[in-house]
Amino acid sequence: MVHSVRGVIARSNGAPVEMETVLVPDPGPGEALVAIQACGVCHTDLHYREGAINDDFPFLLGHEAAGVVEAVGSGVEEVAPGDFVIINWRAVCGQCRSCARGRSQYCFATHNAQQPMTLVDGTELSPALGIGAFVEKTLVAAGQATKVSPEASAAAAGLLGCGVMAGLGAAMNTGGVGRGDSVAVFGCGGVGDAAIEGARLAGASTIIAVDIDDRKLEWARQFGATHTVNSRETDPVEAIKELTGGHGVDVAIEAIGLPETYRQCFEARDLAGTVVLVGVPNPTATIELPFIEVFGRGGALKSSWYGDCLPSRDFPMLIDLYLQGRLNLDGFVSETIALDEVEEAFHKMERGEVLRSVVVMD
Ligand SMILES: NC(=O)c1ccc[n+]([C@@H]2O[C@H](COP(=O)([O-])OP(=O)(O)OC[C@H]3O[C@@H](n4cnc5c(N)ncnc54)[C@H](O)[C@@H]3O)[C@@H](O)[C@H]2O)c1
Ligand SMILES: [Zn+2]
Ligand SMILES: [Zn+2]
Repeated sequence: MVHSVRGVIARSNGAPVEMETVLVPDPGPGEALVAIQACGVCHTDLHYREGAINDDFPFLLGHEAAGVVEAVGSGVEEVAPGDFVIINWRAVCGQCRSCARGRSQYCFATHNAQQPMTLVDGTELSPALGIGAFVEKTLVAAGQATKVSPEASAAAAGLLGCGVMAGLGAAMNTGGVGRGDSVAVFGCGGVGDAAIEGARLAGASTIIAVDIDDRKLEWARQFGATHTVNSRETDPVEAIKELTGGHGVDVAIEAIGLPETYRQCFEARDLAGTVVLVGVPNPTATIELPFIEVFGRGGALKSSWYGDCLPSRDFPMLIDLYLQGRLNLDGFVSETIALDEVEEAFHKMERGEVLRSVVVMD
């Protein structure tokens, strides 16, 4: 059976998104059909619509989602109809050289659903991040659906599917932030604020938020920043050194994707400290660093993909912390909107008015 549902697509480079009828097949072997309950609007969706990711238009946008499994294909054991799930970008293979070493969070051969979702005329859609979730039902690889407690709000839970997980994991997994550490986070959008939240959860005692927008810095405080620096007015490297006894921070996290702020992270870090790049750079950007400092400061320069998360390990644990009131996921939900309000949400995002607008299905 083919399911005919409403979805939000980006048809061509820069054009406003459109509501369209999307045809979704029943799940084949290893696949799951998920009825979407909520899906956050992420900067990456806007990057797709602007042709900044690739040219495989039309895209079915949306990828920060939670919902309920409606049907599964043959051989699926991970989830069953009725399960409340968070959707992730990457179903791990369990067999590649990274999985074979017990490091599935870096799986080098992740996969998505095999069957395409299409428009009524048969045009195949490219689902954003292998998901496509601004749609009433979507088709994913079963490993992209992780069962979590149904007590969680779908709007909050879905955010773990991308940006919030990326930020939390940049601090907790990639950066290895621990009790008593000092941390600086550059860029306080949804990803940066999640890194602040992750640093707080991991026990950091000093958390310095850096942004060029005072409103963002105020929100950063609500997630646990102990200090804020507006880098339009103040040199952030100097300010961070001043706040850390002249030394710099143990972990500096870049959540923007600019060479300039990466360099500030590099300079604002203590000896033997760690820099974590979670912001996605423009494909043409380059960076120059004093090579002797790369050597002389020791420590680590790391990049964080999806917060180095393993959904099956991290999502249920983080949802438990959320339900216990220890992880503030609700704070990322600036507003809930209808499926036909995604274009407007992009504009609010561009104006810096929201951390996340979240589509909630009627
Ligand atoms: N690595 C991953 O797995 C992953 C996952 C999701 C998103 N991302 C990336 O993370 C980045 C942040 O995403 P977001 O949703 O939080 O975006 P966002 O646009 O909401 O936030 C960016 C923040 O950076 C601030 N900023 C911009 N220029 C600055 C400067 N020069 N100095 C200081 N602050 C500055 C902005 O005011 C804003 O608050 C993006 O590049 C996104 O693509 C990465
Ligand atoms: Zn693998
Ligand atoms: Zn995203």
